[in-house]
Amino acid sequence: MTKGYRQEVGEGFPRASKVADGWCLKAVYKDHTRTLAEMINKVYYRNIVDLGGGCGALVADLKGMGISGRFTNVEADRELLAMDDSSNLKVCSRIEELPNGPRYDIALMRHVLNYNSLNTQKIIVRKVHNILNQDGLFVLQHCCPVDKEHQRRLKLMTTTPIVSEKLIRADPYWSTWEEVRAILKDSGFETKVAETFEVGVGELFQQRYNLTKEEEARFHELLGEYSSIRYVISGNRKRTNLIGKISRLIRGSPGA
Ligand SMILES: C[S@@+](CC[C@H](N)C(=O)[O-])C[C@H]1O[C@@H](n2cnc3c(N)ncnc32)[C@H](O)[C@@H]1O
Repeated sequence: MTKGYRQEVGEGFPRASKVADGWCLKAVYKDHTRTLAEMINKVYYRNIVDLGGGCGALVADLKGMGISGRFTNVEADRELLAMDDSSNLKVCSRIEELPNGPRYDIALMRHVLNYNSLNTQKIIVRKVHNILNQDGLFVLQHCCPVDKEHQRRLKLMTTTPIVSEKLIRADPYWSTWEEVRAILKDSGFETKVAETFEVGVGELFQQRYNLTKEEEARFHELLGEYSSIRYVISGNRKRTNLIGKISRLIRGSPGA
């Protein structure tokens, strides 16, 4: 198991994403899965990889919605991976250490980039570009600060015990959507935003990490007016030349 990941994910996470009984968790982990399902539904070939798939909650939900395909979960945390009883194949690895070579039609990634440094995020996105087939689709759900000040406060929250030790992660970088969009472009992707939504952070973190009243008070004191967090769902295609576009048309795999 990669050192530090249990702490990065947070004790409440596996239960949170699988059961999602609080309304915030349901909004983040369940309701918007429809958007992901609609994007996947437009792709004919379905060799799908869920990158940082945790306990397999997303795959379970997609299968529950009738989405067919061959699902591989690539996850660094062996304990979380062991809880996945939905994926067809489970690979315990860091995403950036996967072998090179195009083989997937769809790559899914939900709330994963921020658990990595900015440089690792760039390496991860380049790896996604590398392992996707030429007409492949990268479906990214990214959780982000709205501006640099929000980013600074979230960094404090997840690198120091200012709110609670429960929230400390190993090597987090809260990339803004603008930063991620630039990384996607530099890595050779064309990006279309499918949906953006915001969720109140207080309830979200309360439900996910089971914060005490004192921790909750410190949390609100730190975040102040930044009372919600932004989610962006995007479909990303490799920038193609004419031959790539024709190949996509022939394979019957329309854009996101
Ligand atoms: C917040 S959880 C999200 C899990 C899942 N994607 C979901 O939405 O249900 C983040 C997951 O990403 C994994 N992760 C983060 N960075 C990773 C990396 N570089 N390689 C592999 N797994 C990673 C963590 O171990 C954790 O399970």
